[in-house]
Amino acid sequence: MLTAEDIKVSYGAIDALFDVSVEVEPGRVSCILGRNGAGKTSLLNAIMGLVPYRGTVSFQGSPLPRDTRKVVLAGVVMVPERRRIFPTLSVEDNLKTGGLHTAAK
Ligand SMILES: Nc1ncnc2c1ncn2[C@@H]1O[C@H](COP(=O)(O)OP(=O)(O)OP(=O)(O)O)[C@@H](O)[C@H]1O
Ligand SMILES: [Mg+2]
Repeated sequence: MLTAEDIKVSYGAIDALFDVSVEVEPGRVSCILGRNGAGKTSLLNAIMGLVPYRGTVSFQGSPLPRDTRKVVLAGVVMVPERRRIFPTLSVEDNLKTGGLHTAAK
């Protein structure tokens, strides 16, 4: 369903990720595990178009745009870590908010 191939993310001279490939299958929960600084957030940010990357990401057989707004409209959303949430909403409503545009279709 979601495939990322040979992803590379650099911050200036620092190579944070190189040659990372993941595949997420429909109907399953997939996890990315790694020590602090391993590059988990960098990978998710790349998929969401929040940081530039090399490599390819496809979703449901089509290349995923590198523009975050278009990524979300394509149906891929991310619940950010830390406090970048809607503080007045419950956990459930925060999660639902990410999928509002798909629920309206
Ligand atoms: N904005 C940035 N500028 C420079 N280096 C960065 C930046 N963001 C992350 N890095 C570096 O990239 C590497 C991967 O970081 P990343 O935050 O993706 O890892 P992580 O697996 O999400 O870590 P954590 O478990 O701490 O959340 C680390 O070496 C980190 O220091
Ligand atoms: Mg992280």
